[in-house]
Amino acid sequence: MNRKYRKTVIAGNWKMNMTASEIKPFIEQLKENMPKTRACDVVLCTPAVMIPAMIKAGKEVKVAAGGQDVSKYEKGAYTGEVSATQLADIGTKYCIVGHSERRQYHGEDDMLVNAKARALLEKGIAPIICVGESLEQREAGVTMEYVAYQVKAALNGIDATQLRRCIIAYEPIWAIGTGKTATSEQAQEVCEGIRAVIRKIYGARPARAVSILYGGSMNAKNAAELLAQPDIDGGLIGGASLKPVDFATIIAASNQ
Ligand code: 13P
Repeated sequence: MNRKYRKTVIAGNWKMNMTASEIKPFIEQLKENMPKTRACDVVLCTPAVMIPAMIKAGKEVKVAAGGQDVSKYEKGAYTGEVSATQLADIGTKYCIVGHSERRQYHGEDDMLVNAKARALLEKGIAPIICVGESLEQREAGVTMEYVAYQVKAALNGIDATQLRRCIIAYEPIWAIGTGKTATSEQAQEVCEGIRAVIRKIYGARPARAVSILYGGSMNAKNAAELLAQPDIDGGLIGGASLKPVDFATIIAASNQ
């Protein structure tokens, strides 16, 4: 982290878990375990139908609500899709785009991720843009080239002012839901590389101000070490964000 230049963000990705009725008790437990003061922004990204409940319950504890996906289209005959306008209208502040599960199960490519990020920015929602390599790519030694490409493609056509609202999440696919965390050195190396890519496009100042999160089996035990790295400005947490005590511990770890 480097609080002098950028925000620390602890974001949970609930994926397709929990229900709207479970949010209030979750937030109550989170509140009981949360540190008295905190130096980070906290977000919980839920399925779209649960966002209003999260906004309501999260207000008091300053937990913002986020979505997990958005349509690239503004409106129209796209059955089942949710638009950025619709997310913004109910008060959504953040939204994940390009999660590896969407890339894998829904065939999303980098250009689509870019279109979705731009759709969100137009409506004032901060995109949490996910990138990350597969195990095969890591073993083949192409991690940084691949992630650099993903970042460049995702940011295509986004200007420096809009970049200020963007959050990048580095999530190595092999570390997601596997209990196999990247070492803090591995995570730092790629996050630093991502910042270098952004620096090349936008210059030093904008690059310094972008929050880059790590995701992939981040938990109450390993969070402090990962967050101590200079280019890791927070976490995108799956499994551990479903447990209020663990999530509160990760929030506390960002206070270091
Ligand atoms: P886990 O923390 O469960 O590995 O999930 C990470 C993730 O995919 C967050 O988006």
